[in-house]
Amino acid sequence: MTTPTGVGVGWEARADLVVVGGGVAGLTAARAAARRGLTVLTLSKGGPTDTSTQYAQGGIAVVAPTGDSVDSHVADTLAAGGGLCDEDAVRSIVSAGPHAVAALTDLGAVFDRGRDGDVARTREGGHSTRRIIHAGGDATGMEVQRALNAASLPVLFGAAAARILTDARGVTGVLVLDERGLGVVHTPAVLLATGGLGQLYACSTNPAGATADGIALALHAGAAVADVEFVQFHPTVLYARGGEGRRPLISEAVRGEGARLIDSHGASITAGVHPLGDLAPRDVVSRAIAERLAVLGEEHVFLDARHLDGFAERFPTITASCLAVGLDPADDLIPVAPAAHYSCGGVVTDVHGRTAVPGLYAAGEVARTGLHGANRLASNSLLEGLVLGERAGHAAAEERAGLRVEATDATLPARRRADR
Ligand code: SIN
Repeated sequence: MTTPTGVGVGWEARADLVVVGGGVAGLTAARAAARRGLTVLTLSKGGPTDTSTQYAQGGIAVVAPTGDSVDSHVADTLAAGGGLCDEDAVRSIVSAGPHAVAALTDLGAVFDRGRDGDVARTREGGHSTRRIIHAGGDATGMEVQRALNAASLPVLFGAAAARILTDARGVTGVLVLDERGLGVVHTPAVLLATGGLGQLYACSTNPAGATADGIALALHAGAAVADVEFVQFHPTVLYARGGEGRRPLISEAVRGEGARLIDSHGASITAGVHPLGDLAPRDVVSRAIAERLAVLGEEHVFLDARHLDGFAERFPTITASCLAVGLDPADDLIPVAPAAHYSCGGVVTDVHGRTAVPGLYAAGEVARTGLHGANRLASNSLLEGLVLGERAGHAAAEERAGLRVEATDATLPARRRADR
């Protein structure tokens, strides 16, 4: 059997929508589209927990019911983004946060609560208030993935998308490589939810599958990518001499709860650098660390969390990573250095996940909606995955039903508006 492009394949299948990726954006989209009656095939290169979502620690940034506002979350996002966010996209996505989190909670995700019984909220870099909700202390992504895995349709694991097939009218299928060999799924719609590209760097917080596949697939299909030069380096990744590949994250929430960044002489890294000090936006803190390391000729700085009460209960995942290398955060300084963490740019979409190629969608880290600009605000990633996943699933369903509403100026990122 051969595809219209002449590639020989050993098997074929059909679906209304193929979702490529089994993290928060992909599974949310698959559920949304299936609820609208589409037959959905979800592919994942790895297994059920080999996603970037699984490793997210800090939480989900979402406007708190009191003492917070959409305007404040928007302002923090724009400030962190260095003047390169699309404000319309930011407002659209941030406004949808509370509803998206409520839907995830309805699905069974359980978030940590404080002594007062209310959902607990912490702070992270660039946020002007405590608005980050979390689960399992520092295992938010694990809980999001667990809830979505439990509620989702079957996923074809160990299956990689090799090529999006298109004709003059748009998407016609996707070539897939799995244990049976190369096959083709005939479909008018593909959603890329393949995550990031951290594995292109020597050290990253990303899992092995974060190899920029979605960007390559989209470019080959004729979609635009933008802002891919903005790769966010997380300031505090557990340092090990010669450490390579995926390295354990030390969540920014540790600083949100009061830990301090110091150098080998005990001096603050961020004093005088930014009014928010150790909780400045991530690019600012990572740069301050890199500059100090260059001056000192050293390879890491330290996070001092020794004075925090109940560290092991609040941060069990981080405690386990530290104990595994013989460090106890209650007694020891934690050696940390910046490492590649998040792709702020990606496949250009509107705020419904639509690319300029009919039938091709993207959501989550692989997409560039305009939310992040040059530097993503902490914990806006799970938020975006939830909101865009849901919207892209609906957009695919509407397009399938012939209901596609043309994107309006309000839904198109600024750069695409400028291009028209
Ligand atoms: C962290 O917990 O510091 C990472 C959260 C994020 O990447 O937004």
